[in-house]
Formats: sequence, structure tokens, C-alpha cells
Amino acid sequence: MNSPVSPADLQAWSDHTRVPFSVYTDPEIYRMEMEKIFYGPFWHPVALIAEIPEVGDYKTVTVGEASLIVTHTGDNEFHTMVNACSHRGVELTPEFLGKANDFTCPYHGWVFDNKGTCHVANGEERFRKDFKKSNFGLTQIRTTVWSQVIWATFDPETPSMEEFLGDAAPALRNALGGGERPLKLLGYQKITFNCNWKIYMDNDGYHAGLLHTAFRLLDFQGGTAEQISDGTGGHWGIDYGTKPYEDNGYLKDASIVETRNNELTATVNLIRPLCQSVKHLNSINFRFGKPMGPEKTEVHYAYLGFADDDDAINEHRIRQSANLLGPSGFVSIEDSAVFERVQKAVSAPSGTINFVKGLADSPDGKRCMQNDEAGSTPWWNDYKQRMGL
Ligand code: FES
Ligand SMILES: [Fe+2]
Repeated sequence: MNSPVSPADLQAWSDHTRVPFSVYTDPEIYRMEMEKIFYGPFWHPVALIAEIPEVGDYKTVTVGEASLIVTHTGDNEFHTMVNACSHRGVELTPEFLGKANDFTCPYHGWVFDNKGTCHVANGEERFRKDFKKSNFGLTQIRTTVWSQVIWATFDPETPSMEEFLGDAAPALRNALGGGERPLKLLGYQKITFNCNWKIYMDNDGYHAGLLHTAFRLLDFQGGTAEQISDGTGGHWGIDYGTKPYEDNGYLKDASIVETRNNELTATVNLIRPLCQSVKHLNSINFRFGKPMGPEKTEVHYAYLGFADDDDAINEHRIRQSANLLGPSGFVSIEDSAVFERVQKAVSAPSGTINFVKGLADSPDGKRCMQNDEAGSTPWWNDYKQRMGL
């Protein structure tokens, strides 16, 4: 198909397993992704209930390039709204997390409750005669709750969460404690990777035992693991298991990799377009991604435990999370270097990124092994069609 965008390698793109470099660099592609993917039929995680656990709590988050407010408004009731005053568009709140029953715009003082209804429009006696505050609520974004995560979509046609996730759902539910045991927020870390958001999604997650030296030195792999890609855009999930660390002399203080409470499951999930969730030993994290132009991606890690954890396990989870799988953790330390080196390489005027491993056994990529590249191909197949490339 002829592409609506100009680079020569895109005009000739025929095989979704061989992705032209310009898909990761072209500003026009990036603009189209906002429209067709980020504001298209995908659910995006906007908050964990654990981040805004009480009625009146709120969080701000960016989806694509849209600044949103997520509010807890009642018993298991949440609203997601555009963080822009309905008068002249001023951002209503710059706070990341807070508590408020209403929001007062800092410009002309209009007031909105936390469901987005406008209650005060200062000076309305001089507005046009047919002005009604009730027509000036905040723009609402469709919202749902699944497995203790609040999700939002800009598209009224996006299917239900179960359909959206397909067979990739069980691994994500497992990573989040089975969906029923209440989660607790332990803290955050944030990193900006110098790479396109798709380079982050292509490379993080699938490579645990492959890229990370510490993962191999500590002999973490506990199972064989099948990668299951399914749902809208080919999310994938994997349970690869782990085993208790046996002191092999590499660590001075092995308590950092201790597995408490027999939590030996290890799960990685990629939720399209830009979210990951990882559970390994006692570290549970959920990663909200934000594209920052074609060549930068911000990732916000939320670290989690369970509401019924005691102080000792809380501290253990925090220490293990920050030191093991955080942006500068000793397992994941290689991530940013590799992602940036891919981005540097794809700046060349032509070339392709090639997904090959595992396609012999799984030509559609829906069932493959850990570290196989086949699991990324359902996404690229969907992406190519969705983008009209
Ligand atoms: S822009 Fe918000 S009250 Fe005017
Ligand atoms: Fe990694």
C-alpha cells in the first residue's frame, strides 16, 4: 500500500516483521500515531486504585499528549477528564497526586466538582443570553476498572477490557495479585529513555534472561515460559517463574534477592500501546509510558505491595524494587543503554529492524517462547494495518 508519508523505506514497506527505520523517527508517523493509536480504540491505564484509594483523591496523567485528571468520586466510581478548563483551556491542576472535591481554575476562577460539573462561572451575567453552566463541564473520557487498574479510552468503539486484552489477560491479572487482594502503593521512580516509544516496547520485557547479565549471574530463571500475544494490537503476557536465589558468591548481601512469602511467580506483561507490568520475586511494578516526541519516552514506575502486608515486607519490597528492577536496578541497568543505541542506529536513512526468532514454530507469533521475537509480530501486523502503511 502507498503510504501517506514520505520516507522511501516506508513507501516500500511490505513485510510487518521487517520494520523500516523511519517508523521510529519520522515526525509525521508520530503525529499519525497520536490520532490512530493513542486516541484510537485502545484502553490506557490512567491510575491504579492504590494511587487514589479514597473518595476525593485525584491524579493527573498524560495519555499520548493529552493531560488528564483521574478522580475517585464514589464507591468504586472514577472519572477521567481532560485537564483543561472549559472556559479558555487553562490546565486546571499541575499536581501529580492530591485530594480535592472541586477544582478552581487559576485564570478566571470557574469552579468544577470532581465529576467535572461546572458550578461557578464568574461574570456569567455578562455572557451571551443562552449561556448555561451545565453545558460547560469538563470533557469526559470513557473509563473502566479492571484488576484494580483504572483504564480510559478516547474511542467510544473500544471493546470491553476482557476483549481488549484477550488471552494476554491472565498474566496481567496474576502480576497484580490475582485482581482481588488489594494493592498498596509503595512509591515511584521515573526515567526518560532516549528512544522512540516503540523501541521501548519492542525491547523491554521480552529480553529478561537475554540482555541482563545480573539475571543470569543470579540464576533467576525458574520455568520455561510461553509468551502469549493476543487482544487489540497484540499485548503479550508471560509467566516465567523464578526460583529462590542460592548463594553463588556474587552478592555481598543476598538479602536483597530474598523471596519472601513464597512469591515465586515471575510475570511480565506488555499492554499496547505503552504500558508494562512486571512482577519478579517480591517486586511488583506497573509502568505508565508517555511518548515525548519521536525520540524520547518517559516511563513512570509505580511500585506496589499488598494492603495486608506488614512493615517488614513493605520495606523489603521497596528495597528490592529500587535495587533490582528499577531504572537503575542492578538487573535492568542495561536497558537505557541498549534502547538509546537502537535509536541512534535507526537514524540512518534506510534499514529495517527484523523480528525473526520463533517464527518457525509460531508464524503468527501468538504462542512462542520467552526471548522469542515472534511475540512482537502480532503488534507490528496490527500497527501496519491500523496506520495504513
Ligand atoms: S480559563 Fe479557566 S476560568 Fe477562564
Ligand atoms: Fe530490561
